[in-house]
Amino acid sequence: MPGIVIVGVQWGDEGKGKATDLLGERTDWVVKFNGGNNAGHTVVIGDEKYALHLLPSGILSPGVNPVIGNGVVVDLAVLFQELDALEARGVDTSRLKVSANAHIITAYHRTLDKVTERFLGKRRIGTTGRGIGPAYADKINRVGIRVQDLFDENILRQKVEGALDQKNHLLVKMFNRRSITVDEIVDDLLSYTERLRPLVADTGHLVDEALNRGEVVVFEAGQATMLDVDHGTYPFVTSSTATSAGAASGSGVGPNRLDRIVGIVKAYTTRVGSGPFPTELEDEMGEWLRKTGFEYGTTTGRDRRTGWYDAPITRYATRVNGITDLVLTKLDVLTGLEQIPVCVAYDVDGTRFDEVPVNQTDFHHAKPIYESFPGWSEDISTARTFDDLPQTAKDYVLTLERMSNTRISVIGVGPARDQVIVRHDLID
Ligand code: GDP
Ligand code: IMO
Ligand code: MG
Repeated sequence: MPGIVIVGVQWGDEGKGKATDLLGERTDWVVKFNGGNNAGHTVVIGDEKYALHLLPSGILSPGVNPVIGNGVVVDLAVLFQELDALEARGVDTSRLKVSANAHIITAYHRTLDKVTERFLGKRRIGTTGRGIGPAYADKINRVGIRVQDLFDENILRQKVEGALDQKNHLLVKMFNRRSITVDEIVDDLLSYTERLRPLVADTGHLVDEALNRGEVVVFEAGQATMLDVDHGTYPFVTSSTATSAGAASGSGVGPNRLDRIVGIVKAYTTRVGSGPFPTELEDEMGEWLRKTGFEYGTTTGRDRRTGWYDAPITRYATRVNGITDLVLTKLDVLTGLEQIPVCVAYDVDGTRFDEVPVNQTDFHHAKPIYESFPGWSEDISTARTFDDLPQTAKDYVLTLERMSNTRISVIGVGPARDQVIVRHDLID
């Protein structure tokens, strides 16, 4: 005890990185269990700002053992670039461990990601173009390359041959691209072998033993519930399990080791990429939220789509993840609004839905039904206890808490590490 899972409630960028970092001082291990360098976590520590993609946010805390779990897809060039950049800024990255079973993103995955998106045209997902989907597709298709394959050149070569066989037909005949040779892929991958070797471990075993010793392990999700391949707005999702169940399968420990599930939720909603978003604001209000909340993608720099808080989504995320605690982030961004609309249900072609509709077409047609709550104008960025907040801000938090059926344990009032109000300790 305890194993703590951190998951995103909405469409990502809720502030998972900051939440993980917040727990850093009292955490022994941070395990990233899904996704890859499609993630973008901004963590602000004092005057320093860090943007992490592939590495778990725990890498910034001295004393934490960061782990890249088997559920992650690893782009080796990105891995070493991020490590070098952190080392250059004085961050000790020497404790990082990488699962021998994690899959590798290669050049052909990145190429396929980009060409398939182009091919989809209007139906494109708006992926990050990092090769995430094609790498997971190969994993499920049983033609993936794993970290451990890099240590046996014969096996690696055979596997790359197998993976490229069909892909070259696709690339040349369908997408009009040049074919990729086995040699160029194998040579590229082998160039990382020696640097990778000391990092590779049976990470599931390490984490299980840490839990047995009573150490605190944080399982940090990339992406979020509505981007989860099973529970999100399919097909406008990422290709991994971003919900709490992925913490077990993506790190190699049993689900009974997960003691607490912390959902990170923004006080409004954002989304990057295509797909349904009922509370989206495509007007000046949306632009105001984007500017005030600084909603520009950490990974691709794209404008994030913005909209009001959607209560059915939080209830849905609470259910599919088994959320025990919520961290409500970016409450400070709403300062200055006279009224704050909250989506309480949807209208789908004349029928009221109190919960997220199971049918994709219904969700595409869902129009938000709003209730409005009074805002506040006082600066809340220096509030450190719940009672420091103006009454209307407290009421807004309590309203969201009531609507989500889960306690809001932490409230974010700014990007910095100490800009939080802790109502209930996340580790006890
Ligand atoms: P992640 O992908 O879930 O880790 O989130 P991102 O890092 O992509 O996006 C969250 C952004 O909000 C980052 O720039 C954080 O520094 C910032 N942030 C986190 N919590 C708060 C908060 O409570 N208030 C404000 N103003 N910014 C926050
Ligand atoms: P963090 O961890 C927001 C979105 C992409 C696209 C879809 C599929 O920072 O919250 P992919 O490249 O994964 O195949 O793209 O998922 N997406 C994210 N959106 N935050 C993320 O990560 C995301 N990771 C992927 O924009 O719509
Ligand atoms: Mg992000």
